[in-house]
Amino acid sequence: MEKTAANIEASMRAVSEHIAAELRAIDRDVFDFDKNPFSFLGKAARARFTLLAAAALGAGGPKAEKAAAAAELTHTASLLHDDCLDMARYRRGLPTLYDQIGINSAILVGDLLISMAFECAGRAAPDLPESLVQAVRRMTEGALIEENSKGKKISAAEAEKMVALKTGALFRWCALAACRLANRPELLPDCARLGEEAGSAFQIVDDVLDFEGDAEACGKETLKDVKEGKYTLPLILALNDPQAGPEADRLLAAIKTGPEADLAPALDLAELVRKGGFSGAARKIAAEKLKNLFPVIDKFPDPEGAAALKDFLLALGERRA
Ligand code: IPE
Ligand code: MG
Ligand code: MG
Repeated sequence: MEKTAANIEASMRAVSEHIAAELRAIDRDVFDFDKNPFSFLGKAARARFTLLAAAALGAGGPKAEKAAAAAELTHTASLLHDDCLDMARYRRGLPTLYDQIGINSAILVGDLLISMAFECAGRAAPDLPESLVQAVRRMTEGALIEENSKGKKISAAEAEKMVALKTGALFRWCALAACRLANRPELLPDCARLGEEAGSAFQIVDDVLDFEGDAEACGKETLKDVKEGKYTLPLILALNDPQAGPEADRLLAAIKTGPEADLAPALDLAELVRKGGFSGAARKIAAEKLKNLFPVIDKFPDPEGAAALKDFLLALGERRA
């Protein structure tokens, strides 16, 4: 296990250096990263997941690092765009690029990062950009469904479908890329499921943290989803509860979403979601999803890598930031 952990940490440094070098190579007339810095690796969950899946499948080294960098570039690009959609000022503990350089330039830098991600994926293996295109398409579909669902009480099943697209799709690509680099085509369907479910669980915990997280620890504002009229799983569980549902409904109506959003009922709603056990119940659903993936990981050829991957997934379910 220690050897795997040391290899992963060395690879994470390589991923970080690779992305930093790519950002600094951009013509300064186009975008000056030193003048407008942003964090290009947050928790780096997608990079770690790619590297750990690769290790468990028997692959590693510079190609896996390039795939991991491609995943993080894609994710950061989606966040640059997401911060424009949400008009968010604070991300990963720093002012957002939207805040620093405005909506137009922030969108365009996001586009730049996506194209850099495809280049990076191509350096890992020539066919990886094609599957990454599919993943980006699915992520975008998920983001559009989320946008179209704002202010609408969706079902738990609809929320699950949305998280599988908006976040599951990129994690799915990470696992597929690892499988491709390990040259284990027979495990592709298992890897697709592993990635999609791990990503969905990760997003459910992100949605939980919007209710129970600490803004400083999370590096971003909390209670954003309710203020924007987004019905995420913890809220849906509260609304569907015969006892808590009517009060949750009343508080939700009092928030008035968008720029008019009122903090006092949002705080009360967060308390109801926490104390009523609904954020805990959503966490449990995420933890179940992750646990159910263990038999898939048991099929992977490297036992040390497989154990490290399981530990990582358990930590994803329990994270507080
Ligand atoms: C970010 O999702 C966008 C994608 C995953 C495509 P969220 O909107 O849930 O992220 P935060 O909560 O703003 O960080
Ligand atoms: Mg957002
Ligand atoms: Mg969120």
